[in-house]
Amino acid sequence: MQGILISIEGPDGAGKTTQISLLKQYLEQKGFSCILTREPGGTKISEKIRHLILDKENSKMGAVTEMLLYSAARAQLVHEVIRPALEEGKVIICDRYVDSSAVYQGIARNLGVDTVYEVNEYAIQGIWPDLTIHLDLEAEEGIRRKKNQTELDRMELETMDFHKKVCEGYRTLAKRNPDRIKTINAMLSVEEIHEAIKKQLEFVIKNR
Ligand code: TYD
Repeated sequence: MQGILISIEGPDGAGKTTQISLLKQYLEQKGFSCILTREPGGTKISEKIRHLILDKENSKMGAVTEMLLYSAARAQLVHEVIRPALEEGKVIICDRYVDSSAVYQGIARNLGVDTVYEVNEYAIQGIWPDLTIHLDLEAEEGIRRKKNQTELDRMELETMDFHKKVCEGYRTLAKRNPDRIKTINAMLSVEEIHEAIKKQLEFVIKNR
């Protein structure tokens, strides 16, 4: 496929949103046609699933249900947005993708990374990111930042132990996939993080 898929990952509060908008601006200045999307969500159907997953009322949701709902939302996003955009040669920046499921459901919820990837193979139709940026942050800092911004959703209301597993989980996953997943310290300044992302991206563009 012609386009490029970049996923941005990290624990809650790592600053993905800020970096994503800077990255989009940068890519557009370079002449790329760029699409921003987010997970869970990004299509009408996937946003409905997002609402179901993150609703604080759904405290009884089991881990397997949660994994399947995230992958259902993803399947729709790939079908409706990601695959067509890649075929048109666009650059897609995705705020979370399959690695979020590997970490949150596979590691933090203990379903196993391999199980989660296996289930998700159906959802993503073999479309893996060309580059995954992992914004690395301690759990306490991430939740502190989130609390200052918004009301916490069902996932953010999880225990600190859960959030610590998420942070460690990302580090483990990045070590397992060093060619694709690039870790950047999310405690650096906004500008420094942006520069580091640009460097990783330029490498991917050059090697295509
Ligand atoms: P989001 O609202 O994007 O959180 P943030 O603003 O911190 O990025 O994501 C919703 C939550 O869903 C977030 O806590 C991470 C979680 N999540 C999973 O557990 N599995 C997944 O596959 C995805 C995509 C997200």
